[in-house]
Amino acid sequence: MTTSAKPRQKAAKSGKAAAYRMYIDGKFVDGRGGKTFDVYDPASEEVIATCPAGGADDIDRAVKAAHRAFYGGWKTTTAQERGRVLLRLAERIRARRSELAELETRNSGKPIAESEYDMDDTATCFEYYGGLATKINGEVLPVPADAVAFALREPVGVAGQIIPWNYPLMMAAWKIAPALAAGCSVVLKPAEQTPLSILELAKDFETVGLPPGVVNIVTGDGPGAGAPLVTHPEVRKIAFTGSAAVGRQIMRNAADQLKRVSLELGGKSPNIFFSDADFENAVDGALFGVFVNQGEVCSAGSRVLVQRDIYRKFVDAAAAKAKTIKVGSGLDRNNKMGPLVSAAQRDRVVRYLKVGRQEGKLAVGGGVPKQHDRGWYVEPTIFYDVDNAARIAQEEIFGPVMSVIPFKDEAEAVRIANATPYGLAAAVWSRDIFKAFRVVKALEAGIVWVNHMQPTFVEAPWGGYKASGFGRELGHWGVEEYLETKQVYINLDEKPIGWY
Ligand code: NAI
Ligand code: MG
Repeated sequence: MTTSAKPRQKAAKSGKAAAYRMYIDGKFVDGRGGKTFDVYDPASEEVIATCPAGGADDIDRAVKAAHRAFYGGWKTTTAQERGRVLLRLAERIRARRSELAELETRNSGKPIAESEYDMDDTATCFEYYGGLATKINGEVLPVPADAVAFALREPVGVAGQIIPWNYPLMMAAWKIAPALAAGCSVVLKPAEQTPLSILELAKDFETVGLPPGVVNIVTGDGPGAGAPLVTHPEVRKIAFTGSAAVGRQIMRNAADQLKRVSLELGGKSPNIFFSDADFENAVDGALFGVFVNQGEVCSAGSRVLVQRDIYRKFVDAAAAKAKTIKVGSGLDRNNKMGPLVSAAQRDRVVRYLKVGRQEGKLAVGGGVPKQHDRGWYVEPTIFYDVDNAARIAQEEIFGPVMSVIPFKDEAEAVRIANATPYGLAAAVWSRDIFKAFRVVKALEAGIVWVNHMQPTFVEAPWGGYKASGFGRELGHWGVEEYLETKQVYINLDEKPIGWY
């Protein structure tokens, strides 16, 4: 929506743009305000769809529907039934894999193979929580013999969920699946750049047995639709993934109502290479860590820390390999990197490229590829000899930009790695199990990989330390965010209490 370059609007003018609608109370509807916004294909810069620009009254309508659905039956639906709904949704995603993957690539720009992988992960996420729904147990507590006590787990109620544009359908799944497994109802606001895949999937909600109002999708931008969702009094919990700036604002806005909040705010994750690592694999891992999904990854290994004895060789090898990465339309399977999601994001990254030229030495990339006359592309870029205090080593760029920083020994590697406000992810590469594990324990990050970077499993917890936010998604941790705990004490002693 915020595009500094004037985007081409051919598709809209020739009437090819699909008119999507929001999904509220089991129906596809227009926004109350009647306004719409344009949705782009970042490779062609054309408008491919329009969506209703949702506002406070649309949020209110959706929250009321979610509230009715929660108290009207979803809260008391059996865990078995909730689980089956999630499993049926997973089946639909698997059946529609290529269609949804193509739409995801058209709307987000990412390479088609990555979209297909995302669809598999999305389905797996619904399957995991479909299975978990029936394993949400309370606990019996060890109180004295004349009583029984236990802890019940109950859904928090209506959950408001705000997601970003880098993994559109997968982010929706990470939020919706655990909420439904817990018995919550949902109002989800997709990113304004990428609302299409979840609206497509919503066409299957009724078929898989989701009662009206249990999941509502309100499209719109942050201030228009996101902000009123955060402050709506009937929303009990907000789950957010996005920028740290908006995360802070959400936390402030949720404070008055003491609304539960979980935040995943990205980072500046270190990818640490000791000289005893498998060299070829390490170079690949450094590139994959920050160039996958065009670098639009919250856990991107954007700070590459390399031990001095392999430093020069590493930078040269990484630069040589980065030159071979094919950048172009995500729909062409030869391309390993697509365009960035929007003109605004491209411009933001290009501004950082200018900063980087001042702060570091350029090994490769550093601009927009010349061969494309359209599309919001950025070259895979490597800066080296970067000081960890530099802006390109401290600020999240969210694009294909690697900052390489040398280090002397293990202690210095750990010190540099932790010297950031963020703490989402980190990776360490070494063949020395003692050293690797010492570093794992010393790193202040919610996710640490050894000899790889980015593999993500629905079974494993996802979330950050420090300014990367709090709360954990995925695994059994993910469902905790949507549960309250009720202590129940039952007195079995029939004698009078006799205190007064
Ligand atoms: P953003 O944080 O503004 O947007 C993320 C979501 O929050 C979108 O759905 C947006 O509509 C919503 N939002 C925005 N303002 C809001 C408000 N006041 N109240 C409620 N919801 C609001 O991120 P943006 O502007 O798209 O990207 C800027 C930077 O944020 C990126 O360059 C990147 O550094 C970071 N980011 C991090 C992500 C992550 O995965 N942690 C994902 C997307 C962006
Ligand atoms: Mg923003």
